[in-house]
Amino acid sequence: MSEISLNNVCKSFGGVQVIDGISLDIESGELVVFLGPSGSGKSTLLRMIAGLETIDEGELTIGGKRSEHLAPGQRDVAMVFQNYALYPHMSVRENMAFGLKNIRMPKDEIERRVNDAARILEMDALLDRRPAQLSGGQRQRVAIGRAIVKEPAAFLFDEPLSNLDAALRVRTRVELAELHQRMQSTMIYVTHDQTEAMTLADRIIILNDCQIEQIGTPMDVYLYPNSRFVAGFVGSPGMNFLQAELSGTAGKQQAKLGDGSQIELSVDLGPGAYELGIRPEAVRVSATPAATTGTATVVERLGERTLVHLRLEDGTELIAQDGGHSEVKPGDLVHLTFDTSQLHLFDDKGRAHHAK
Ligand SMILES: Nc1ncnc2c1ncn2[C@@H]1O[C@H](COP(=O)(O)OP(=O)(O)OP(=O)(O)O)[C@@H](O)[C@H]1O
Ligand SMILES: [Mg+2]
Repeated sequence: MSEISLNNVCKSFGGVQVIDGISLDIESGELVVFLGPSGSGKSTLLRMIAGLETIDEGELTIGGKRSEHLAPGQRDVAMVFQNYALYPHMSVRENMAFGLKNIRMPKDEIERRVNDAARILEMDALLDRRPAQLSGGQRQRVAIGRAIVKEPAAFLFDEPLSNLDAALRVRTRVELAELHQRMQSTMIYVTHDQTEAMTLADRIIILNDCQIEQIGTPMDVYLYPNSRFVAGFVGSPGMNFLQAELSGTAGKQQAKLGDGSQIELSVDLGPGAYELGIRPEAVRVSATPAATTGTATVVERLGERTLVHLRLEDGTELIAQDGGHSEVKPGDLVHLTFDTSQLHLFDDKGRAHHAK
């Protein structure tokens, strides 16, 4: 049975719809990420599950229990926010115990839960410190500890790492992934950062324009985006988009690029003008004449690989990938090959058609 189910939930603020009929089943133990641009309704959807926003229409089930009319405290979930706001005058132990004391839980049960949470988070040695005596990452762990002690059916995280600096964000992200593996608990994690989504999620739910744009595993949405929007949103650097004219018949088609070069491919589409999408790693620098040539404008060395920004003869810009020891310099004319198994064509409605 699903741990959390949404059935056709809707939400408007002052007549403006922000969630438009979303249905979704989250399995027990799953880590699901809501990913989408700013304003796409990620926090609103999470807050509707937590009970911090009302649900205008539709059904919510948590742990098998209809929950849309329950108060936040009656829903079996715990939320961790971006601004974790710990009580500065309380120790870590007291911060974690606070919510449980408020509901008059017996003392020995509180102690057991706080000790369990501290062990899970590897914070045993820090229990008597005040928040001011902790690093940013440790403070965020205390905030997660406050959620763990509630022993909820599901954890809800709203951009919990966005206040941390870049290096700490990466470390804490790994800690969270480990925590999820240890606890095997159901988690919903909201972020606008596609790297966070790719690295953490069992499934990514991509939100756009009040609706779910795509649901899939990280590699599903990366390899088989079902729209121009998803293709452009997932992956860093982003997918290249080029204008293409498709001709030929099924099984043997040609996509003609703006610079006149032709790419052979096979895709379930009729002739016409499309947008062609290809990720930088599928455009490679070749030592010998290949599909087309471009002039290198910027060469970004990332260590293990090199990103070569190029301009084709007609002015089309794209990014290709070369090895870490690439010899390409700005101004060089380079040959380019396209991995035609990684091509996508987008029609005028933005729907994706994957090359075979
Ligand atoms: N209390 C509110 N009253 C009116 N409009 C709201 C309210 N809360 C959110 N909105 C609007 O609803 C839409 C979705 O907001 P939401 O906060 O869910 O987006 P988000 O995806 O979490 O964005 P971000 O990545 O910036 O956090 C936005 O257009 C926002 O302006
Ligand atoms: Mg938000």
